[in-house]
Amino acid sequence: MKAPVKIISTIAEMKAACREVTRVGKTLGFVPTMGALHEGHLSLVRAAKSRCDVVAASIFVNPLQFGPTEDLAKYPRTLEHDTKLLDELGVDLLFAPSADEMYPKGAKTYVEVTGLSDKLDGAARPGHFRGVATVVAKLLEIVRPDCAFFGQKDAAQVAVLRKMVSDLDLDVEMVVCPIVRETDGLAMSSRNAYLNTEQRQQALVLYRSLMRVQSVADQGEGDAARLIEIGKQVIAEEPSARLDYFAVVDPDTLDPVADISRGALVAVAAYLGSTRLIDNILRIPPGR
Ligand code: PAF
Repeated sequence: MKAPVKIISTIAEMKAACREVTRVGKTLGFVPTMGALHEGHLSLVRAAKSRCDVVAASIFVNPLQFGPTEDLAKYPRTLEHDTKLLDELGVDLLFAPSADEMYPKGAKTYVEVTGLSDKLDGAARPGHFRGVATVVAKLLEIVRPDCAFFGQKDAAQVAVLRKMVSDLDLDVEMVVCPIVRETDGLAMSSRNAYLNTEQRQQALVLYRSLMRVQSVADQGEGDAARLIEIGKQVIAEEPSARLDYFAVVDPDTLDPVADISRGALVAVAAYLGSTRLIDNILRIPPGR
């Protein structure tokens, strides 16, 4: 029988446990999370289990990636339930440090992927991606995994972290797993918990807008400006949704593209009440 998940709260102990995995020649997969786990996270864990001998996860609500007016205090914290889920899936190590452990008094170093961190979600959330890059760089150094698993739902985060891994020559393979959706299409997100019954229904407009764009693109429309217009029109049909952006961009640089023939990321962000939701589809170019 497999040993229960080992919960570790200090950096020193996590480093020692992870180094031991590599010392004995096993591969280590890593799933960083902020907890409040849903099927999206669990799909990352399953992917890690299928690729690696040993799987580590982290749960850390990273204060650095929340703006002063954002939802750090009310971000859902469900450590006991999360631990049970990870244990059931066979996760071996769970790193759950305190904020003081991760950012001791006097810490002054940040990681910033300039030129990417202020695009898409970074435009509405200044400092957010600096916080994400900083914590992920620290976590990758603590764990030193062979593979780290991230969700495609956070497409801008994926672009920022890919660039960071490449620019810093980090010795890790980034594995990006598909978006997991509720049966009606809503992308799974810990923030869906903030939606009331009406907002939960209204939130489907994000997925509808992407599906509409997808179907128009499948019929041959490649002009990004036209696709954005169509996506925005769908969002406007739901008066309770406040659009942040509807964008068609290069998935690596997050720069706008004029047409989608060579592939593109179609991404949307909108508020339902004070809850900001994101979703996207990735158009893969023919032949890739
Ligand atoms: O995607 C998330 O949950 C977070 O941004 C991450 C990668 C765990 C960093 O805090």
